Amino acid sequence: MDHFLKKIVNLCKRRGFVFPSSEIYGGFESCYDYGFLGTLLINNIKQEWWKSMTQYRDDVVGLDASILMAPQVWKASGHLTAGFSDALVECKKCHHRFRLDYLSENKCPDCGGELTPEKKFNLMMKTFVGSAENEAAVTFLRGETCQGIYMNYRSLRDSLRLKVPFGIAQIGKAFRNEISPRYFIFKTREFEQMEMQYFVSPQPEKKDQWFNYWKEERLNWYLGLGVKKENLRFRKHAEDELAHYAQKALDLEYKFPWGWDEIEGIHDRGDWDLSNHSRHSGQDLSYLDPQTNERFIPHVIETSAGVARSFLVFMAEAYTEIEGGRTVTTKSNKEKEVFLSFDPRLAPIKIAILPLSKKEPLVNLAREIQKKLRQNWMTQYDQSSSIGRRYRRQDEIGTPYCLTVDFDSLEDKKVTVRSRDTMQQERIEISQLVDFFRKKMNSAEN
Ligand code: GAP
Repeated sequence: MDHFLKKIVNLCKRRGFVFPSSEIYGGFESCYDYGFLGTLLINNIKQEWWKSMTQYRDDVVGLDASILMAPQVWKASGHLTAGFSDALVECKKCHHRFRLDYLSENKCPDCGGELTPEKKFNLMMKTFVGSAENEAAVTFLRGETCQGIYMNYRSLRDSLRLKVPFGIAQIGKAFRNEISPRYFIFKTREFEQMEMQYFVSPQPEKKDQWFNYWKEERLNWYLGLGVKKENLRFRKHAEDELAHYAQKALDLEYKFPWGWDEIEGIHDRGDWDLSNHSRHSGQDLSYLDPQTNERFIPHVIETSAGVARSFLVFMAEAYTEIEGGRTVTTKSNKEKEVFLSFDPRLAPIKIAILPLSKKEPLVNLAREIQKKLRQNWMTQYDQSSSIGRRYRRQDEIGTPYCLTVDFDSLEDKKVTVRSRDTMQQERIEISQLVDFFRKKMNSAEN
């Protein structure tokens, strides 16, 4: 594993962001669990995406569709055929299986054995619904979340009186029987997607306009949350690379430790999905434009991002090492220090509350302050070990502000607020803390 990736994996485990699933049984098939801090970070990423898609706009609504759907959905969408398959080869000697396009040679990378000719391997995960385990009971865990959006497109459109162009956004789990899961949480068999389908007129100029619009919007979302421009780029899919549903596709790529790799797709899906579902279900999914009186099946511009990939991007961007340390208050601080420079909106813990002594009046005041602040923000109380160590523990998990309560606080009703990035300290009136943090936390408003 790449050296930098290893550091991130270690930090994630040590500080409780991500653990291997079923670890006491030796882990399971590239599955991972998010610990407390990981869950907070994931929730913040999803919340920022959700707000940018729904709360900050008028033309996109949200949805939470079920993971299990009628098996006909997957037949109509084309996911049960070759389009949603990868080329698989197996080693005749050790029987390890590989994705053909990940191999650089014709020999097994594990033992040098001869490989079988390629077979198509479908990525959909089969499951049985109900008590009978026969063909009639087979369905699939969803391979992409957006099919739930197509299933609800008409109901949402009619119940909310939506007019084209409009979008539907959804966050949820998807499953693919990937042949070669890899790079920690980057490619797994169970993963979460943040997908938005924007329903537009089939006119090519209008479609292109929306495609370009969403491309920029999505790039700006990452930039706005602190990702450096030089670490992001778009890559256009070649004709022979396009997914079975796509007329045009761009990958938004990030410069990962192992090289440029996909974090999100912007796709022009044409009328592939709605037309196929209309045909297979016998239902009319067309739209009558009230202005032009034209009836058409809307085309779809899709933005499809992976939650875990965003997690890795924000982690990699935030990870900073300082040789020799920056909080030089004791000898032990000479070691290397790590801090995560998350945007405050993403940071799992926003404010750490640190009384300078365990004596009762200070602890009581610190707890009182925490009680007030936790109504608005995720806080952490820590009274153990030296203040320098406590600062470093918070820096390592990306807490943007530490608040220390000292004996002067009892007299002047002020506390010291230390910023993670600048390490600057300021005395703030306790009564002003909520206003102070409100201004600091929400970078979007500043
Ligand atoms: N609905 C379109 C769609 O699913 P995709 O390019 O197959 O398109 C979109 O996937 C995004 O979902 C990817 O850019 C990636 O962020 C995420 N994703 C796909 N497969 C994944 C996997 N096996 N593990 C983690 N994330 C994955």
